[in-house]
Amino acid sequence: MVSFTLNGKSVSVEADGNTPLLWVLRDHLNLTGTKYGCGAGLCGACTVHVNGQAVKACQTEASSVQGAKVTTIEGLSAKGNHPLQKAWIAEQVPQCGYCQSGQIMKAAELLAKNKKPSREQIVAHMDGNICRCGTYNRIISAIQRASKGA
Ligand code: FES
Ligand code: FES
Repeated sequence: MVSFTLNGKSVSVEADGNTPLLWVLRDHLNLTGTKYGCGAGLCGACTVHVNGQAVKACQTEASSVQGAKVTTIEGLSAKGNHPLQKAWIAEQVPQCGYCQSGQIMKAAELLAKNKKPSREQIVAHMDGNICRCGTYNRIISAIQRASKGA
């Protein structure tokens, strides 16, 4: 049994402690916004927040989030209107969309710590979140737009 706070609500899951958080979220809790890309910590598609830190859920054992606060794309904002989500729409960032929830969660970690990141800081922070469709320039534009409150 693993218990933690998920998107503001207490949850308890019957899962082995070594189950990756990714599968606890997707299979036990039916939150499928967090994606399985590589399963090896290489792509960032599975990025969620644990106590405000962006982590790769495929590389995070369920036992390690016992008592922690976990936030997924479904819980980033109550109505899907986080400044990044609005900027993502304005910039029409996604192509296939598969990587995008992970991209937004990674970007949200940055803006929570640094409200006005430079382009270089954005690029450095987002390194490690892969987009096979090559939407990188629009991702940067959307993060810049969100940081300006536009
Ligand atoms: S699925 Fe977790 S890093 Fe690729
Ligand atoms: S939008 Fe297709 S992988 Fe990023």
